[in-house]
Amino acid sequence: MAGIKDYYETLKSIEINGKDIVSAGYVSQVYVEEGKLHVKLTIPQEFMKHAIAIENTVKRVLKERHNIEDINVEIKPRMQITPPKLQTSTSGNIFDPKRIPGIRRVIGVGSGKGGVGKSTVAVNLAVKLAQKGYKVALFDADIYGPSVGTLLGIKGQKIRVTKERKFLPVEAYGIGVISFASLLDEDTPVIWRGTMFHKVYQDLFFNTIWSEDELDYLVIDFPPGTGDAQLSAAQQVIIDGVVVVTTPQKVAIDDVRRAINAFLKMEVPVLGLVENMSYIIDTCGNKLHVFGKGGGDILSREASLPLVARIPLDPEYLEASDEGKPMVIQEVKNENQRLIHEAYERIADFILDRVSP
Ligand SMILES: Nc1ncnc2c1ncn2[C@@H]1O[C@H](COP(=O)(O)OP(=O)(O)OP(=O)(O)O)[C@@H](O)[C@H]1O
Ligand SMILES: [Mg+2]
Repeated sequence: MAGIKDYYETLKSIEINGKDIVSAGYVSQVYVEEGKLHVKLTIPQEFMKHAIAIENTVKRVLKERHNIEDINVEIKPRMQITPPKLQTSTSGNIFDPKRIPGIRRVIGVGSGKGGVGKSTVAVNLAVKLAQKGYKVALFDADIYGPSVGTLLGIKGQKIRVTKERKFLPVEAYGIGVISFASLLDEDTPVIWRGTMFHKVYQDLFFNTIWSEDELDYLVIDFPPGTGDAQLSAAQQVIIDGVVVVTTPQKVAIDDVRRAINAFLKMEVPVLGLVENMSYIIDTCGNKLHVFGKGGGDILSREASLPLVARIPLDPEYLEASDEGKPMVIQEVKNENQRLIHEAYERIADFILDRVSP
């Protein structure tokens, strides 16, 4: 009977871009469990669009050579540990993103499209990770419409500044929060905000005391849009991966696709998709697709990205959420709410798996 070493030998016959996948270091694990052969690959982000073809080839080659049928292939994008190349913004400026001392991992939540629930997903993911025992902070990168303060019930609370001119995050539900809303007044002119955003971002990222000891995750809530102002955070800080939020209606797709491409262009790994407001279960248990269907699936196929979760809509949670109580800390009183909790559990586990602290 063939052993693990033989499987590795067989996998060596598969090449991507002229390099065999074993020598290139793309095979991260090969093991047999309950009679099933598991092959885990970690490949550069730029090859993720060929993930399905690679998976099929791996299965075919192993089947042909060893006559095994039960094979599970898992392909993940390789995380960016080393700083990426210098990046050029659309206005031609050059940026050199850095790690923030004291923060192990940085996760972005973005979309390109407005109103899809980015801030809601960012807030609930951050609180969920904290519930799981990780040290988490949240950065609201929305200069024009910061809403994290509202969603966490800390609107109006100001960031404190120490004598050494270091910022102290506002605390809510076990996470530290830095938001433009807690720095600027609501009537600060939008134009003025626009001219200084790079400097302010940099100051907040690198001069905040994020935690007494090391922080496991910083979650960044990206504003809608794909211009320099929107993606400024990614020009300054190395981001380990972003989760992209979409809604089920097909008209949302173009903006979301643009955001995925913008992140990839900046060498920010896009880890997966979340479809928010996917459906609502009515009192008879019927699934109603109030906002249409298919958006998440189309993008997932197109970009070879996993659709990590479909989050249902819940009117009661909407109200409580807008009053400052994140969904993941609320009680479960109906099927939509149960499924929302389940979805956030899945999203948090997905992040822990893909970008371990
Ligand atoms: N699954 C859901 N069920 C019910 N309400 C939701 C859900 N997801 C988001 N919402 C609500 O939808 C509204 C918009 O959400 P949110 O502010 O998170 O979107 P956004 O994409 O961050 O918007 P913007 O583009 O303005 O930053 C909020 O009132 C929020 O409470
Ligand atoms: Mg928002």
